[in-house]
Amino acid sequence: MLKRLEDLQADTLAELEALTTMDELRTLRSRVLKGEITEILRSIGSLPPEERPAVGQLGNEVRQTLEAAFAEREEQIKAEELARELEEGAIDVTLPGRPVQTGRLHPATRTLREVINIWREMGFQVYLSRDVEDDDTNFTLLNIPQHHPARDMWDTFYTTRDGVILRTHTSPGQIHAMREYAPEPIRVILPGMVYRYEQVDATHEMQFNQVEGLVVGRNIRMSDLKGTMIAFAHRMYGPERRVRFRCSHFPFTEPSVEIDIEGDNGWLEIAGAGMVHPVVLKNGGYDPREYSGFAFGMGPERVTLLKHSIEDIRYFWQNDLRFLEQF
Ligand code: DAH
Repeated sequence: MLKRLEDLQADTLAELEALTTMDELRTLRSRVLKGEITEILRSIGSLPPEERPAVGQLGNEVRQTLEAAFAEREEQIKAEELARELEEGAIDVTLPGRPVQTGRLHPATRTLREVINIWREMGFQVYLSRDVEDDDTNFTLLNIPQHHPARDMWDTFYTTRDGVILRTHTSPGQIHAMREYAPEPIRVILPGMVYRYEQVDATHEMQFNQVEGLVVGRNIRMSDLKGTMIAFAHRMYGPERRVRFRCSHFPFTEPSVEIDIEGDNGWLEIAGAGMVHPVVLKNGGYDPREYSGFAFGMGPERVTLLKHSIEDIRYFWQNDLRFLEQF
């Protein structure tokens, strides 16, 4: 029995030295430690009593020696397997990492935020108004009655619900703001997307942002409109910039103007504006004999186009990364 234990230890150590994988090691370990040694120790009971202590003692020693040997060899094999994997495997740990793409704001969003921030610094509050409007608020309450030819200025997206449309400009927000605040004075801007049923081409899109402005109070005059718009233009485009007011017509303002700034290639229109029409003030809940106001509407995308010499407005909403990544 002692001889059997000694042989088992010698054979196992030899096999352990020869094997090269963790799988082989696990198989050998369970065969020897769980199987053969346990079997021998269990059979001690059938030996003559005087032989039992020596066999028991040697059995335990062999088990301890082998356990230590297995543990040591396991470490070696794991290290070897790792080294082999690194050498043969597809992972080249010396390659540089893949660069992480950082996102950025859309050029239109950047201009929009710039415009909004200037108005906020000038004391205007941002008022958000709905994109889906009713025909009345988009037109009639702004002094553009049904069937009036002025409606031709805005090609409209109608919906299948009677009277429900996509707003063609941010001006209907004026009505919502006035009805919420009347008879308090108002100084708000209304930024947002507007929609037009346009034949899309390089200079026409069917959606774009506008920034509307509305000031209502007692004794608001044309000179307030002019001073405010010039102050904005100087902040946005630089204090040297010349600003020009041209007579125009909008149904919701009287008188109406268009505002241009001087660019490198002549004058450039940046906004429509005017003194709020008495009918519109009344529709908003203000008595036009006591209150007056001015309003304006600008399209920041046009400014972005010119600033970056973008030759086609359709690039804006196509989400082509080759375009967007240039900003
Ligand atoms: N709503 C006009 C448009 O979409 C722009 C505009 C002009 C707004 C004059 C105004 C304004 O508030 O006073 O073409």
